[in-house]
Amino acid sequence: MKKIISVINQKGGVGKTTTSTNLSCGLALAGFRVLLIDLDPQAHSTIGMGMADHCEYFVQDILINGRDIREVVCKTPTENLDIIAANIHLSKATNTLFNEHFREMRLHNALLKETDNYDFVVIDCHPSLGILEINALYACNFILVPTDTGRYSLEGFADLIDTIRGIMGSDANIRDYLRILVTIFDSREKGINDWVDEQLAEFSEIVLSTKIRKITGIKQAQIAEQPIMVYDEKSPGTEDYNKLTQELLSIW
Ligand SMILES: Nc1ncnc2c1ncn2[C@@H]1O[C@H](COP(=O)(O)OP(=O)(O)OP(=O)(O)O)[C@@H](O)[C@H]1O
Ligand SMILES: [Mg+2]
Repeated sequence: MKKIISVINQKGGVGKTTTSTNLSCGLALAGFRVLLIDLDPQAHSTIGMGMADHCEYFVQDILINGRDIREVVCKTPTENLDIIAANIHLSKATNTLFNEHFREMRLHNALLKETDNYDFVVIDCHPSLGILEINALYACNFILVPTDTGRYSLEGFADLIDTIRGIMGSDANIRDYLRILVTIFDSREKGINDWVDEQLAEFSEIVLSTKIRKITGIKQAQIAEQPIMVYDEKSPGTEDYNKLTQELLSIW
């Protein structure tokens, strides 16, 4: 396995799912074998890949019921891309997990057994920093933090990075395992973008040069239950997510 990537930010609605599904597609279309794990009871990655009614098992079957990854994966319509789906019952399962031993390591341990079938694993996280996200952080060796350009997304950002650093270990060099991705970006909003640059100045060495522009058509893609890369090859969103895929591949 080359990389296990957690797409994480406790702030809601910043593009985690859009990034998880499209990065997974980008890597799969580039010929890599990819596993997308939906670790969010909202199940947006599952729905966004058109898989809501197509999976027998769910991610909680790994976390709580001890099933192996290979029993739980389903194939998506995109070649080379499998998914472990989520559904709303993941919320309840999360409460059960609180009473279990080694609860933070469940996903990590499951992935340890799964070294041959995939080149990349992408984990789409819920907007919080609870037991599911801690599982994601222990399981991964790379972290992608999407943020939009809103004030509420960037205030408290340093705290988020500090928390992640605490979990990944202060000895590790953050440049080796974390990148920040600016999403829902509009180049016409000059004043806002200058402010965003100021907010991210202290992290400049880990901000990706690819930015994901505000994509028209993303809602139609959601209705079609397809990532924008599949829904509309000519969309600027497809161009941006292809650029992101290439930039990350150049780092790895
Ligand atoms: N690049 C983009 N351009 C325009 N709209 C976008 C873009 N990325 C995401 N959105 C919109 O923002 C909303 C939130 O996106 P998304 O679901 O990817 O965020 P999230 O961080 O996964 O949210 P949550 O925290 O609820 O899981 C979506 O409904 C989507 O329509
Ligand atoms: Mg999401």
